[in-house]
Amino acid sequence: MTTDDELERLIQAARAAASRAYCPYSRFPVGAAVMTSDGAIFSGCNVENASSGLTICAERSAVFQAIAAGKQSLRRVIIFTPTPTVTAPCGACRQVLNEFSADLLVTSVCDGPQRLDCRLSELLPHAFGPANLVAIE
Ligand code: THU
Repeated sequence: MTTDDELERLIQAARAAASRAYCPYSRFPVGAAVMTSDGAIFSGCNVENASSGLTICAERSAVFQAIAAGKQSLRRVIIFTPTPTVTAPCGACRQVLNEFSADLLVTSVCDGPQRLDCRLSELLPHAFGPANLVAIE
């Protein structure tokens, strides 16, 4: 459960992160903000690289901030793009989010009125995750 105030703070954090994106190649800034179960907020932006494959998305950047702070229980994630329509997380980011919370509420917001609320299990059905790694004798 996220209160309206928490949601507003998350959106602001994601929006601020997008303004700091390093995206000279795509010119497509993305900001993400993660709320952990204790109410802490961690944000991230996409950071591109001249060697394209090394680009990191905003969502993974935000999740890694939370993990590095010792917080592994994720409650909600917001993705903001300064676009007329919303952006859902890419496949790689869905997989990384799934590592920490299969039932995470993922919300995409943008500069327009559109908003997309999805459970991660909808975005990544039949996911491969930590529970699949059973030891084989
Ligand atoms: N991007 C993200 O940051 N998150 C996504 O979920 C989709 C794509 C970034 C990566 C790249 O810097 C730019 O958007 C264009 O693909």
